[in-house]
Amino acid sequence: DLSKSGVPRRLRAAKRVIVAQAGAGRYKVAILGAAGGVGQMLSLLVKMSPLVSALHLYDIANVEGVAADISHCNTPAEVAGFTGKDELAGSLSGADVVVIATGVPRKPGMTRDDLFGINAGIVKELVEAVADHAPGALVHIISNPVNSTVPVAAEALKQKGAYDARKVFGVTTLDVVRANAFVAARKGLPLADVDVPVVGGHSGTTILPLLSKARPKAPFTDEEVEELTARIQNAGTEVVEAKAGAGSATLSMAYAAARFVEASLRGLDGDGDVYECAYVQSQVVPELPFFASRVKLGKDGVEEEVGSELRGISEYEARALEALKPELKASIDKGVAYVQQQQ
Ligand code: NAD
Ligand code: LMR
Repeated sequence: DLSKSGVPRRLRAAKRVIVAQAGAGRYKVAILGAAGGVGQMLSLLVKMSPLVSALHLYDIANVEGVAADISHCNTPAEVAGFTGKDELAGSLSGADVVVIATGVPRKPGMTRDDLFGINAGIVKELVEAVADHAPGALVHIISNPVNSTVPVAAEALKQKGAYDARKVFGVTTLDVVRANAFVAARKGLPLADVDVPVVGGHSGTTILPLLSKARPKAPFTDEEVEELTARIQNAGTEVVEAKAGAGSATLSMAYAAARFVEASLRGLDGDGDVYECAYVQSQVVPELPFFASRVKLGKDGVEEEVGSELRGISEYEARALEALKPELKASIDKGVAYVQQQQ
């Protein structure tokens, strides 16, 4: 009874168990903004991970109740709540992964960039604390506008002499999750099999799903490509409008962020086969120092930018890639300039 790789299934199962035991409950995850819409649900999902031994929940208010509530789940991770700036250092101490889900969400009529004025400063302040209290941690940035907050974080860490490009991520997993869901529904494919790489950035037309590289291979008409691409690019706004002033995606975001945390922990744990799309410091497109594409996750974060999915893309995708460059570059420059101007 051989699996696709030719390894007997029973042996593969046994190996998985050993790997799971080796990594069982070894990692400390800190979630900043844990009392928020994304943060609460993400905290619950991360509490369910067998790889997590300690879960630190930080927010400026209302976090103790969240921590008490989640701590009653009978899964191994020990939960602790940290409230207010005085407790930020304690929340970060020893963290392997720090997730930043703080700041304000959009309301109808707003762009993600409209959040820059508030969220950039919060992200800067928090990554400076990460440099001091959790050097070496992987930093997952959810706070919008991701296209700019990641360059803000990178530049702030550089100023502190604590930047490791392999360890700073903009979380774009929700774009992949949406692309997979919409493509599976449209093409009648089994959900579990669908994998659509999404590259570029995380805002409007900078979100570029590569339907030509979707797995399993499926034929798309030009009309399907246009409709699916537009739906994936506008999916955040679809939720913002449906919530009608009560915020943006929280539940699907938490699901996506939990997937990215788990993938990162598996990478730290030595699993040699972990790939996710993420917005990172990049060499894939020379004009864009930050870019989302598929990366290999390993013991020190990004082990390799795969980049190959950009080879042989369709003409439609190649045009969309050209078209997104000026906006993404401007968002990157805005983030870098914000930090440099404050020096
Ligand atoms: P929310 O308002 O429900 O929660 C934000 C939390 O951040 C609040 O609990 C608030 O107290 C906390 N906070 C604010 N300033 C803080 C600080 N200085 N330190 C610590 N905590 C602080 O918002 P939300 O719906 O959870 O969204 C959070 C962020 O995530 C927004 O910027 C939103 O745009 C972004 N988001 C990104 C994606 C993505 O795909 N990357 C998806 C969904 C939401
Ligand atoms: C999303 O894609 O849902 C998030 O970036 C939140 C938003 O503002 O759309």
